[in-house]
Amino acid sequence: MTYLSLKTDSLAHGLHGAAQAIAEVRAGTALPQALSRIFADADMTPQARGAIQDLSYLSMRKLGLADGLLALLADKPPQPAVLHGLLTCALSLLLDEDDPAYDAFTVVNQAVEAAAADADMRHAKGVVNAILRRFLRERATLLPQVEKTPPGAWNYPTWWIDRLKAAYPAQWQAILQAGNAPPPLTLRVNRRKSTVPDYLHLLAAHGIGARQIGPDAVRLDQPAPVAQIPGFADGLVSVQDAAAQLAAPLLDVRDGMHVLDACAAPGGKTGHLLECADLDLVALDHDPRRLRRIDDNLQRLQLSAQLKAGDARNGKDWWDGKPFDRILADVPCTASGIVRRHPDIRWLRRKTDTVQLATLSAQILDNLWQMLKPGGKLLLVTCSLWPQESEDQAAAFAQRNHAVRLSAPGQLLPTASVESDHDGLFYALFQKTGP
Ligand SMILES: C[S@@+](CC[C@H](N)C(=O)[O-])C[C@H]1O[C@@H](n2cnc3c(N)ncnc32)[C@H](O)[C@@H]1O
Repeated sequence: MTYLSLKTDSLAHGLHGAAQAIAEVRAGTALPQALSRIFADADMTPQARGAIQDLSYLSMRKLGLADGLLALLADKPPQPAVLHGLLTCALSLLLDEDDPAYDAFTVVNQAVEAAAADADMRHAKGVVNAILRRFLRERATLLPQVEKTPPGAWNYPTWWIDRLKAAYPAQWQAILQAGNAPPPLTLRVNRRKSTVPDYLHLLAAHGIGARQIGPDAVRLDQPAPVAQIPGFADGLVSVQDAAAQLAAPLLDVRDGMHVLDACAAPGGKTGHLLECADLDLVALDHDPRRLRRIDDNLQRLQLSAQLKAGDARNGKDWWDGKPFDRILADVPCTASGIVRRHPDIRWLRRKTDTVQLATLSAQILDNLWQMLKPGGKLLLVTCSLWPQESEDQAAAFAQRNHAVRLSAPGQLLPTASVESDHDGLFYALFQKTGP
């Protein structure tokens, strides 16, 4: 798609790009993939990319409300999908009356321009104008109607809200709220190259406000692009959520150990393990393209591992038979604990995904257990809030394999307070006693 008649610095251009991204998410594509396809357009400036990204992420956080409004404002779901996306995005921008990013009539005019510039939507520019203006006139009656529905109130699918209520009767509202907040930028200080106090001084010298929120974790007061983060290119720090930074210390790695990082890409935890000790580390992932990202990360950190493409459900193509002292099993999951970073996930997932992913993870765990030395430790990690993928999985695994359960944080709920700010991850640590 080209944007021949839209100026790249206009809101109309941003709305049009975001409309395409929203349409792709509705068709089942993850937002980052949808955006990288849209960004491949030759006319796209860095500013235009930033605007489209911001508008798309905002729309994902408002999709339940915007869709509820559209159901009242339009006789039938707008077609084609890009028109639906355009209206969703424009409505998302109009929702915040107290601190609007743009004046309401600018939003309406620019949405009409975006429709007019696209041959697939040109016929509907009058509809765009009419729907958005009607919303502005009738917002006081329309909004309360939609906010009465669970998706309108929380901006999550109803099944997601119901499942959280069942699993966390006291915390479900706080969890939903945390998932709608913009995520912080948290760094992991590379202990081979610096310390948290020294790095905080370096940030202060660059005028960047930050505070320590974990043993190696520093949260910036304001997120910034990595190119502006002092020492990032030289491997002084990596971007990693504070909860994810618990994995390497929990595995208690020591120099000389033979370690498997079984679902390793893009290598966030691989890098941390190698920062903690001199290891003989195998980093495995079944996706060869994602494996390349581990390589990029390790090169930046000047660390090395054996990178292997293979299936963690069996070792026949990649394991040499030498048992491991430690195994990190950061298994594939629904990612329901990291929705503040990936607000598209809630709309992409289906209720039944949990069962499929939990079955896959159980197969991975049972196989990895055979590769662990007696006395060795295996750490199960998920970024899920669903017990089926986390506590239930850990309990069933321990029972099947007679694994000893060691102390670990269990389910961490997402939180964003002054001292503590992290995603929703789950940790269970096991030790092998017999052969
Ligand atoms: C949660 S991500 C891992 C994140 C990574 N540990 C980190 O900290 O950066 C899960 C990974 O498991 C990989 N994966 C999924 N199924 C797999 C399988 N059967 N065998 C090996 N890797 C698999 C995915 O490609 C994905 O990269």
